[in-house]
Amino acid sequence: MMTLPIIRPTLPPLDELIDLIRPSWESGAVTNGVMVRALEAEACRQTGARYAVAMSSCTSGLILVPRALNLPPGGEVIVPSFTFTATAQALLWNGLVPVFCDCLPGTCTLDPSDVERNVSERTVAICAVSIYGLPPDIHPLLEIGRRKGIPVYFDSAQGLGATYHGQSLGQFGACEVFSLSPTKVVTAVEGGLVTTNDIALADRLRSMRDYGRDPVHGEDMVDLGLSARMSELHAAVGLWSLRRVHEWGKARLTRIDVYRDRLGALPGCWVQELPEDRTTSGNYFVLFITDRAKTNRDTVYQKLHQAGIQTKRYFHPPVHEQTLFKQWTTRVSSDLAHTELAGREGLALPLYSHMTLDQLDTVCRAVEDILQ
Ligand SMILES: Cc1ncc(COP(=O)(O)O)c(C=O)c1O
Repeated sequence: MMTLPIIRPTLPPLDELIDLIRPSWESGAVTNGVMVRALEAEACRQTGARYAVAMSSCTSGLILVPRALNLPPGGEVIVPSFTFTATAQALLWNGLVPVFCDCLPGTCTLDPSDVERNVSERTVAICAVSIYGLPPDIHPLLEIGRRKGIPVYFDSAQGLGATYHGQSLGQFGACEVFSLSPTKVVTAVEGGLVTTNDIALADRLRSMRDYGRDPVHGEDMVDLGLSARMSELHAAVGLWSLRRVHEWGKARLTRIDVYRDRLGALPGCWVQELPEDRTTSGNYFVLFITDRAKTNRDTVYQKLHQAGIQTKRYFHPPVHEQTLFKQWTTRVSSDLAHTELAGREGLALPLYSHMTLDQLDTVCRAVEDILQ
């Protein structure tokens, strides 16, 4: 039993949740109903996107998007390897070939110059990822997509509440896919959201999340889909939480500042660079522990575990090193040096919106004791 878990979702008080869910419950329409529509409207309000489509998870959204964008099976999609496995697994589900590119050394987000080096006539799309809540450098990626005539979409699973050049995430590229799983700033217990300004794409995804159902003649199936609807219960939790996204984002950033101040300058350690042109959602705080530190990353992980402090080696292993991906056709950029280094050095520490300053201090002291 961990004294300090790596995450603890901030959840609505049960009595408030019961009040929210009561109308759906009593009507018997317990999936894809009024709560889901309210959540989608709130997602548009918070992100500035014109359309939002709720999904059962971010992964189901990521699986549906390539087909909704008409990406041809066998085509190559550029993705970072320094990401969560779902970004690239969704491509395998679509018969697409992931092309793993390197991340930048400071922000750990997809390196546009490596994308440029790897884009070819076989490339059918680019998918970039918010890392720990920090958006990638979006403009150069959109520019590559525009020049090559291919869509750019975003796995913004961790990025809800973040901004790029003063604009909220949710409005960039062909679409963005967010996660509402329990490890995220905003949770629906489980769930996902796809946001887009493209009405045809939104309509197609709405149909595909429900087996590809014809929106007018509901008995006919017009597309290949999934059972990826969101329940009213999940939507109620998500709505309650989404209304508080900025409040919780701020709470996390305050805690991240403490971590950065106290741990960022420990010998042999570094923290994610946060460029001035964007803000992070504050989903994770990751301390990078190099081999110049007093103790190596894996030993710090074990010692904190023994002290009841749960941490996560993150992202480790990077996707191109995962057994699954070695069994599929993929392509790997000639140099994934920064990805491999970040995968060896990164350790995510406990962080949640309602984490107390005492808890934060306990983690800081434990890490300082090991690394100072
Ligand atoms: C970058 C990234 N993509 C996708 C996912 C998958 O999200 P979900 O669990 O909602 O399917 C996650 C979840 O951790 C993630 O961090």
